[in-house]
Amino acid sequence: MRENTNENLVELLRTQRDLSDEQLRTLLETDAYDEALFAEADQVRRAHYGTEVYIRGLIEFTNYCKNNCYYCGIRRDNRHATRYRLTKDEILECCAEGYALGFRTFVLQGGEDPYFTDKRVCEIVSAIRKNHPDCAITLSIGEKPRESYQAYFDAGANRYLLRHETADDAHYAKLHPVELSAQKRKECLFNLKEIGYQVGSGFMVGSPYQTTDNLIADLRFLQKLQPDMIGIGPYITHAETPFADQKSGTLELTLRLVAVLRLMFPYALLPATTALGTIHPEGRELGLKAGANVVMPNLSPVRVRKLYELYENKICTGEEAAQCRGCLEQRVRSAGYEIVTARGDVRREDA
Ligand code: SAM
Ligand code: FES
Repeated sequence: MRENTNENLVELLRTQRDLSDEQLRTLLETDAYDEALFAEADQVRRAHYGTEVYIRGLIEFTNYCKNNCYYCGIRRDNRHATRYRLTKDEILECCAEGYALGFRTFVLQGGEDPYFTDKRVCEIVSAIRKNHPDCAITLSIGEKPRESYQAYFDAGANRYLLRHETADDAHYAKLHPVELSAQKRKECLFNLKEIGYQVGSGFMVGSPYQTTDNLIADLRFLQKLQPDMIGIGPYITHAETPFADQKSGTLELTLRLVAVLRLMFPYALLPATTALGTIHPEGRELGLKAGANVVMPNLSPVRVRKLYELYENKICTGEEAAQCRGCLEQRVRSAGYEIVTARGDVRREDA
């Protein structure tokens, strides 16, 4: 029998797109495999997507939220947060500006804000669809009844981002109040998939009380869901939350997981997230080199950028959309890849 040397485990993961729980544990708990892991992940990414990096224009349109997730800076009980909502016209202006800058995907993200009823969401989605028929419209507005998801889809939305956060029930309960459950969140994801959305899920790395077993459960859940996109980023502390004293997640473990995800899901769209860029000045470049192939520059008006404060010291809060786009273009190029102006749909043909 061949010994499980570093390279063998990485090679096994690439060829099988899977490993046993024990092997995954070995890979995740030491830095011994990192070099081989990143190199292999980069090769697989290049085989599927070349050097292309897709851009998504992020519009953070409301920071009101009825939920109280313990980790999140815009949770309901953070009385220090200054709340804002963009109007439909402001959202449309962000899209028009983004379109002129080459964006062909708009991501509307926000807290779970009851002001944005299904009717209002549908009106916004229809208007974007009408103005930009060639663009993908992504929603990231949390847990909704299946009928609501269907209505948004019928209005023209095609993608939905809903991180499962953690697949383990007990861990989920440590991060959320009782009214929220992992089971409900997972159900939403399967509903979205059945309706026909391209679905993105994911989790925070290094969230409070997270164990390696939790991370392995996250990977197993993703194997079941087979999402088109997988967004992961480090958990980052926010002083106005019950987790103020908890430690943030690390760059190292996040990068390792990006690479593992690339090898397990070669076809997936994997963003180099803002949170990754926040914990390290070159976090996003390193994310790309570890297998990520998406970046999400911010298109929100600068006056609200700082207010969408999920965690502390969030980057990209001072720049106009064009500056953000330019900055990321540079960063992507410096890492050896290129931003492309395309909708950037998932390539599942050989998945
Ligand atoms: N309300 C929508 C939802 O629940 O999916 C979208 C907005 S929510 C703020 C988007 C993501 O931010 C969450 O899925 C979570 O993973 C991430 N997030 C929240 N607080 C964070 C923190 N302190 N550090 C890192 N990521 C965080
Ligand atoms: Fe709702 Fe964070 S608690 S977006």
